[in-house]
Amino acid sequence: MFLTSMRLLFFYVFFVWLKASLATNILGNETHVIALLQFKESISNDPYGVLSSWNTSSHFCNWHGITCSIKHQRVQQLSLQQCQLHGTISPYIGNLSFLRTLNLASNSFYGEIPGR
Ligand SMILES: *[C@@H]1O[C@H](CO)[C@@H](O)[C@H](O)[C@H]1NC(C)=O
Ligand SMILES: *[C@@H]1O[C@H](CO)[C@@H](O)[C@H](O)[C@H]1NC(C)=O
Ligand SMILES: *[C@@H]1O[C@H](CO)[C@@H](O)[C@H](O)[C@H]1NC(C)=O
Repeated sequence: MFLTSMRLLFFYVFFVWLKASLATNILGNETHVIALLQFKESISNDPYGVLSSWNTSSHFCNWHGITCSIKHQRVQQLSLQQCQLHGTISPYIGNLSFLRTLNLASNSFYGEIPGR
């Protein structure tokens, strides 16, 4: 009886851990996913549909314009120049703590770039 419950507990803990790590590995760090989706949300016009790949069917490292660090799978570079994007820059972008380069040249953003 004791062994059975220990085994059940073990499997429970294992599955909770597995679920959490799978979610992180397949879709990336949730904070970063939210920040990137908020960034997409604040763009009112994307005539070339460059942000259509920005959806939760794949890890954000595979999204258009995003370069991740290989080791930690974190957004290092966000490069969306000449995409004719219109909109504001979401303050959520400040949550991408490893972002080093933000290249949004030749788009129509208004408002200021939030500090980090
Ligand atoms: C996700 O990112 C946030 C902010 O950069 C960080 O504090 C947190 O530890 C990260 N979580 C994981 C599981 O990497
Ligand atoms: C989601 O992104 C994938 C590419 O990563 C793309 O093929 C697919 O059409 C996108 N889905 C939507 C609903 O835009
Ligand atoms: C991310 O940034 C926004 C706006 O700056 C903030 O409201 C939010 O609490 C931050 N943290 C997470 C985990 O999304």
